[in-house]
Amino acid sequence: MQTQELRIRFKRVSKRFPGVQALDQVSFDVQPGCVHALVGENGAGKSTLAKTLSGAHQLDEGVIELDGQPVSIRDARQAQALGIAIVYQEFNLIPHLSVSENVFLGRWPRSPWSGLIQLRQLHARTRQLLDELELSVPVHATVGSLSVAQQQMVEIAKALSLQARVLILDEPSAILTPHELTALFRLMRRLTQNGTSIIYISHRMDEIFALADHVTVLRDGRHISTKPIHDVGRDSLIHETVGRSLDQEFPHRKDCRGSRVLHVEELCANRAFDGVSFDICEGEVFALTGLIGSGRSSVAKAIFGAVRCSGGRVELDNHLGPFRSPRAAMRSGIAMLPEDRKREGLLLERPLRENITLAHREDVATLGFIISGREKKAVAGLMVQHDVRAAATEVAAATLSGGNQQKAMLARWLQRSYRLVILDEPTRGVDIGAKVEMYLKLNAMAQAGTAILMISSELPEVIGMADRIGVMCEGRLMGILDNAERDTAQEQIMRLVVGEAVT
Ligand SMILES: Nc1ncnc2c1ncn2[C@@H]1O[C@H](COP(=O)(O)OP(=O)(O)OP(=O)(O)O)[C@@H](O)[C@H]1O
Ligand SMILES: [Mg+2]
Repeated sequence: MQTQELRIRFKRVSKRFPGVQALDQVSFDVQPGCVHALVGENGAGKSTLAKTLSGAHQLDEGVIELDGQPVSIRDARQAQALGIAIVYQEFNLIPHLSVSENVFLGRWPRSPWSGLIQLRQLHARTRQLLDELELSVPVHATVGSLSVAQQQMVEIAKALSLQARVLILDEPSAILTPHELTALFRLMRRLTQNGTSIIYISHRMDEIFALADHVTVLRDGRHISTKPIHDVGRDSLIHETVGRSLDQEFPHRKDCRGSRVLHVEELCANRAFDGVSFDICEGEVFALTGLIGSGRSSVAKAIFGAVRCSGGRVELDNHLGPFRSPRAAMRSGIAMLPEDRKREGLLLERPLRENITLAHREDVATLGFIISGREKKAVAGLMVQHDVRAAATEVAAATLSGGNQQKAMLARWLQRSYRLVILDEPTRGVDIGAKVEMYLKLNAMAQAGTAILMISSELPEVIGMADRIGVMCEGRLMGILDNAERDTAQEQIMRLVVGEAVT
């Protein structure tokens, strides 16, 4: 094929960070008007490669050609000028600015006479983009007030506004629910028909097979393969990605449900949810699913004492709640992994070690002093146990790959045994090999008698792992399905999610 017919050609591209070769002589081509999937384990180098295109990272070696011409992409502005837009895995919105101001950041329409920002035009153009994405948030809302998923959609709108030749989406689906995803996928098809090349990073095999025209596998910074999707089987793609076969994506757990641990009765929190009731037993995995903003995370936070309840009861064993604070909930044996690792979890600039020991500092301290030998040993053990891959315990959490940041959060929260563990989107951004490991851990916790409340937007995961599934819509629990009949669960969930009653 002639080089001119290629949109992008990576030629022996390398990038090194202290202690890691993130990209090692990577070469492959991306065609115009195609969806090109990029897959690989956590830390394989996918985001690093994407950032070499967006100007966030400079190459150590190698060449990038765009439409047949070698280009050097020094910064974001230059990438934009070349027609490259990116939606980062960890996004970059400014929380106190409005949706519109973020979407057109640095490109606000101004009056040629007065130089003032033309707000009406700004909002109208933003509205048009949001409509294409079927996102109904007000354009003047501040971004900080939106959910993570809505923020992700705003990032996508921002990338769309650039009308780029190359659009890079770094794991957008890790955060979006099926509804937004459908809108996004429709839009991606329209864009490729108009000649845009889309580089799509995802850990979800279903999506890759549904969307991609080509797929590239990276492993440990090296290029493993680039193939048309038709020439690739699911098992062989998994094998190339993780370097081994997986017997089962959702390992079996025998039913080990015991007596009741959690009782939630008519729980309400102003505006977030209303009249929510359910129980969870020892050894049970109870999943809560639903659309963004349906109230799932708020229910979880309310149980954990992080959101004030305006009515109702929470009982944990014999302890009467609601809990007044997360600290009180933790003392009674609840642990919670929050949804948004950037806002509520990781201290990005602090060392990984500190991030991991944060929840249980007393375990590595005597009379309030951290014993550093003990801390280092504990951290090293937890990193192995949770498969957190980083160059060292002292690197800043920000330098970890997305999936490894998530695993570090699990290492922080799952250090002991608990009565109830609440996990809000625990496998977000985690690669498919590491997911299976995480499921095995969940199963082991359940089998040891812990009650598990898992929030997840990924239906196969919900159906593959839960004993029972609660579906929320607009702040109400629409129904609870017993997951014994997995074949019918998906359809029933989809109906409850949009508020239809199920008979
Ligand atoms: N700014 C940085 N400083 C130091 N090391 C970095 C930095 N960014 C990435 N790395 C390292 O480079 C390697 C590749 O990371 P990258 O983020 O590209 O992985 P990824 O394939 O996107 O993984 P994930 O699926 O978890 O998002 C990892 O070892 C990571 O720790
Ligand atoms: Mg990444």
